[in-house]
Amino acid sequence: MENFVDQSQPDALFPLKGDAARGPSAAGTIRGDELLVWRRALLRRGGGAVDLDWLLEMAGGLSWSQMQSVFLHPERSYRLDTSLEAIETLWNHHLQTDVPLQYLVGLCPWRDLELEVGPGVLIPRQETELLVELALSLMPAAVHPRPPLVWLDLGTGSGCLAVALALAFPESSGWAVDCSDLALARAETNLERYGCRNSVRLLQSHWWQCLDVLQGQLDLIVTNPPYIPTSLLANLDPVVRQHEPLLALDGGEDGLDSIRSVVAEAKTYLAPGGLLLMEHHHDQSNAVIDLLVSVGLSQPQSHRDLEGILRFVSARQVAIPGMQFSPFP
Ligand SMILES: C[S@@+](CC[C@H](N)C(=O)[O-])C[C@H]1O[C@@H](n2cnc3c(N)ncnc32)[C@H](O)[C@@H]1O
Repeated sequence: MENFVDQSQPDALFPLKGDAARGPSAAGTIRGDELLVWRRALLRRGGGAVDLDWLLEMAGGLSWSQMQSVFLHPERSYRLDTSLEAIETLWNHHLQTDVPLQYLVGLCPWRDLELEVGPGVLIPRQETELLVELALSLMPAAVHPRPPLVWLDLGTGSGCLAVALALAFPESSGWAVDCSDLALARAETNLERYGCRNSVRLLQSHWWQCLDVLQGQLDLIVTNPPYIPTSLLANLDPVVRQHEPLLALDGGEDGLDSIRSVVAEAKTYLAPGGLLLMEHHHDQSNAVIDLLVSVGLSQPQSHRDLEGILRFVSARQVAIPGMQFSPFP
């Protein structure tokens, strides 16, 4: 399978919002009925309405609620941040090449963030947002631990989890680790974008290889390792298969190669009472729980995603006797 990452291309074909007021990208107003004719014509070429409306929002600045207004009041005029020609160019490029719209626009909404994304780095997925919610609900603050909270985002990719944790735990000390240069550069951009670059250290490491300094130190590990069994990669949508990095997707023969590497040493790196949170494939829950038990982590637990699928696990390092926990604020 070809893992296409054309690094000779600019990150995004489209300038980010706010830079779009020149040349073919010029902003303007358009009547709703004209917009609907244009939209129908583009959808006849292929693709789905949800994707096209996403593009209108991300590239054109036309929100979902404004789009509803277009349907209800086509006689009114609507403002676009860029020209329809520029949006049409992106749409045609997407249809012809299967390049993800997020890569073309250079942005991806995720939780309450708008993250920069581009070729070579996984586009953050909606289900992964729940890892942050789990961290917020399960993260204990020991009553007498040494502050600050120390966390690790292992396999940080775009830095989505790292940015969210740094914002959620402003007094914390974070580590964002990946083996990929492109991922680390993208994570750095996103941490800077949200003003949390100074509280998070970025480090290149093959899983735990360069992290000795963190042994016994981590109050929280979050990780979304590659977990798709190799044999299933060929079945993925071409938008994913041909354009997102294999390094972020391929979990080896049974999908558990990276998960095994992460779980094998997590116990060594967690502080007493520390929490490990991990995302996995939809059918790996039992296998991952077995792995957690086999390395001696305590309180292994499965968690469901929004569709009710067991998609995450948590487990803890044994707390020191007498250690008390309270919910993290
Ligand atoms: C599924 S992606 C997750 C990215 C991001 N955390 C997210 O949730 O969108 C897995 C990440 O693990 C990284 N990765 C793969 N193998 C690795 C290894 N041996 N050591 C460190 N990171 C690795 C990939 O580069 C990729 O960024």
